[in-house]
Amino acid sequence: MKKIFSLVLILALIFAMTACGQTIQKETNTTGNTEASPVTEVAESTQEDESATVSESTTPGIEEEPVMKAEFDFETKTVMLNSGYEMPINGLGTYSLHGDECINAVKSALSSGVRLIDTASAYGNEVEIGQAIREAIDEGIIQREDIFVITKIYPGSEMENPEQSIQACLDRLNIGYVDMMLLHHPDANDVEAYKAMEQFVADGKIRSIGLSNWYVEELTEFLPQVDTVPALVQNEIHPYYQENDVIPFIQDLGIVVQGWYPLGGRGHTAELLGDPVISEIAEAHNVSSAQVILRWNLQKSVVVIPGSSNPDHIKENTELYHFSLTEEEMERINDLDRGEKHDWY
Ligand SMILES: NC(=O)c1ccc[n+]([C@@H]2O[C@H](COP(=O)([O-])OP(=O)(O)OC[C@H]3O[C@@H](n4cnc5c(N)ncnc54)[C@H](OP(=O)(O)O)[C@@H]3O)[C@@H](O)[C@H]2O)c1
Repeated sequence: MKKIFSLVLILALIFAMTACGQTIQKETNTTGNTEASPVTEVAESTQEDESATVSESTTPGIEEEPVMKAEFDFETKTVMLNSGYEMPINGLGTYSLHGDECINAVKSALSSGVRLIDTASAYGNEVEIGQAIREAIDEGIIQREDIFVITKIYPGSEMENPEQSIQACLDRLNIGYVDMMLLHHPDANDVEAYKAMEQFVADGKIRSIGLSNWYVEELTEFLPQVDTVPALVQNEIHPYYQENDVIPFIQDLGIVVQGWYPLGGRGHTAELLGDPVISEIAEAHNVSSAQVILRWNLQKSVVVIPGSSNPDHIKENTELYHFSLTEEEMERINDLDRGEKHDWY
């Protein structure tokens, strides 16, 4: 009897343990079936979605970040750069301005509301630009934070010794930080020079960096070699040299485009400003030819930096927001393209 009882007890225990084991196993399976699998599916589909988004909109050679085309804000007259800083969309170019003429032009521009000044080491006027800015600050016309100063380092010896050249620009300007520094042209040492600019950004001495005279081929080769997507590319753009293939290429990378020689450059302005199509459009809006050309650039999301030493022209070149060109007028100006470069680079 005792033996039969023991046998029944052992069988009962075995049954209980087996049943219990099945329950644990079942729970594991249940968890596996109802949570793990869908999570895996979700994870896979999320990954697919993300890679789809990224592949649709990433920079060739720089694949991590989705890219957004920068929009111009015509109320604030600024654009948000991919570096996180706002830049004014109209400014003053200072190529060929020197001495008192340069100081007066910059101060006149700042008094007229211009908040973007473009210079370069090669222009040989950074000292005057810095002096004009410091004087304007002292006279209460502006504060340093209100303005955006661009300078550039040049190919050859400057890009061979980029740290020294960058520091020399900062010293000549002597306005604390520089808002934007560009490589003036492609060069054998451009990647190293760009990396030096990246280091100055990390050190807080430069806020944003970019390139000048880089076109589709040059950008395609350059971008995979650097970590920071340029905030700006500054190239020759005017109605006779429109770069209609280059501009969208750059903008689709989330890089802002700025046009140099917006009025055709010295020696060419008379022909461009006197162009019958531009003159006719100007008359229709009761503005000048220069204003029409500058407005045409802005409506193509191209930042303008017309050069001038004439206070009336400087002021006129800021008055670009009280009229707009129709699609038909934009098209008529687009039709003026001749692919005619007004400088060698
Ligand atoms: N990254 C590069 O490689 C590069 C190359 C060239 C230039 N840039 C930059 O681009 C800027 C612009 O180029 P730029 O100054 O040589 O040429 P621009 O702006 O095309 O033309 C300047 C000429 O236009 C005249 N002008 C300006 N506003 C006018 C107006 N409202 N009505 C009539 N005439 C007017 C100026 O004369 P007044 O003085 O009499 O007004 C000057 O002679 C340069 O200053 C420089 O900052 C960069």
